[in-house]
Amino acid sequence: MSTHIGAPEGAIAPYVLMPGDPYRARWIAETFLEDAVQYNDVRGMLGYTGTYKGVRISAQGSGMGQPSMAIYAYELFDSYDVEAIVRVGTCGALSETVKVRDVIIGMTASTDSAMNRARFGDVTFAPSADFELLHNAYKAAQAQNLPAVVGGLYSSDQFYSPRPEIAKELAKYGVLGVEMEASALYTLAAQFGKKALAVCTVSDHLITGEETSAQERQETFDDMMVMALDAIVEMDKNRA
Ligand code: HPA
Repeated sequence: MSTHIGAPEGAIAPYVLMPGDPYRARWIAETFLEDAVQYNDVRGMLGYTGTYKGVRISAQGSGMGQPSMAIYAYELFDSYDVEAIVRVGTCGALSETVKVRDVIIGMTASTDSAMNRARFGDVTFAPSADFELLHNAYKAAQAQNLPAVVGGLYSSDQFYSPRPEIAKELAKYGVLGVEMEASALYTLAAQFGKKALAVCTVSDHLITGEETSAQERQETFDDMMVMALDAIVEMDKNRA
């Protein structure tokens, strides 16, 4: 048991998919997992465990923003022996090289958050994805013909940023998309010696102003989910 996840030991799989929205965790369980059982509803942050292609996988909401993500990721790694977390989310595109509905596989996660300043003082840590998961996700995307690009994410603390020019500056350095959780996830995986990856569909474009409809978001989300699940299955195969 832990503070924010009320599951007994063993109720959570070694591999966890984390959408921000807890209802999306339920949707993942209902759509992709066999024999899914709900293990958490503390604060409405739903979590489920089932199987996909014979591999035990959980789906757990993270909530929005790095402090929320950090609480759940910490407890999953620390109290439940979780080996790998894949964030499955949306992001805003910062670069004209990506289009809405593309999937960004987050190699790195820059941030404006003070969280890592509290860890490292003046040293700026470079949160990065687990290479095996990233490689598997990219291969799965290619197998599915899914438009996926590998590159940098920007985990911002403010959705309604008072300084949007900062994201544009980061774009000049090749950062592809802005979201709100990946950096904390990558840092916690590093702290615990575990694995993490964030994959995000582009829901809106901060440069072109293009947006996706709810239905388009759902369809791309579906495809991205299969990519993330297959990446996990491939990782599990290599463990056996
Ligand atoms: N900013 C931050 N997070 C997001 C965005 C955005 O524009 N779009 C989707 N997630």
